Amino acid sequence: MKVRILPGPMEGVMSPLFCAVAAQLDLLPEMITPFLRISQDLPRIGKMRKWLKPLTIPNKPLTVQLMGDDPINLQRTVQLLHKEGVKSFNLNFACPSSKVLRSGAGGALLKNPELMRRIISGIRENVPEVLLSVKLRVGFASADELPSIVAAFDDLNLDFMAVHFRTVDEGYRRVSDGLERLKRAVELSSVPVIGNGDILTPDDASWMLGNSGCAGVMCARGLLRDPFLLKRLSEKVDITPAAGRLIFYNRALDLASSYPELYWSKPQLLEMARFVWGTSSKQFQRIVKLDNFSVENIRKSIL
Ligand SMILES: Cc1cc2nc3c(=O)[nH]c(=O)nc-3n(C[C@H](O)[C@H](O)[C@H](O)COP(=O)(O)O)c2cc1C
Repeated sequence: MKVRILPGPMEGVMSPLFCAVAAQLDLLPEMITPFLRISQDLPRIGKMRKWLKPLTIPNKPLTVQLMGDDPINLQRTVQLLHKEGVKSFNLNFACPSSKVLRSGAGGALLKNPELMRRIISGIRENVPEVLLSVKLRVGFASADELPSIVAAFDDLNLDFMAVHFRTVDEGYRRVSDGLERLKRAVELSSVPVIGNGDILTPDDASWMLGNSGCAGVMCARGLLRDPFLLKRLSEKVDITPAAGRLIFYNRALDLASSYPELYWSKPQLLEMARFVWGTSSKQFQRIVKLDNFSVENIRKSIL
């Protein structure tokens, strides 16, 4: 069976510029969007179209991630986006942000398997033709919650279940038994489990795939420090991670200077440098201190 390789959705990182660079360098085998938050008021279709367009990578399968706790509004959103041509949807039951948790969405739903089931089954019944998947953490407070969480999706014909091996409470802290938790998810689930968490190198991915039984991997932060990471998982790439970062950022600068109306944004370029090199890197420190934030000066700063 072919191993599924997915980028981890990243709100605030997967900007139009990020996606344009990823498209040009062919970095992603498929695209899964950051969450589209669905609350009381449904976003207008015009707003959704505007949001979706830059996230759509030509000729790559697209999955739209939704986040919310209202089964009817989520179902309506799927109907609307399906009419726009979206064929695959992922529901976020993982986000640990305190703002999201306070609203009862994202990772908060792990405490309510019955509601997660209602959300998915409502969509399944009303829009049976779409592919549906979920993104989970292994529990809210404890990985012991996993059996009841996985059972919530029994017989709902999910495309896959992406599982980040930490609990919501664990945030991004180190855990020693991540692999065991993924193994458990694989044992419990009747649908393919995509393993997620701390994959920074192809060896990390091979280790997870070889020892957990996962059907695929999802990499988020690793993709920032090594933009060619997903490509490396399926083909030989003779570019070091450091060289890859430079190629990635220089391509972003090319696009930002060629299409300033679409991509030139100082905050976005700074944010991208922060994600790619980290705040303590010399590259980021030099860019942040530039008096004249021009393409030429930025290029010199990242050498
Ligand atoms: C900046 C940032 C934004 C994220 N945004 C999302 C998101 O929109 N939806 C989601 O399901 N997960 C989101 N995540 C979580 C990642 O997709 C992933 O599950 C998590 O970072 C663990 O994987 P990693 O160790 O490969 O980074 C985000 C993570 C980061 C670092």
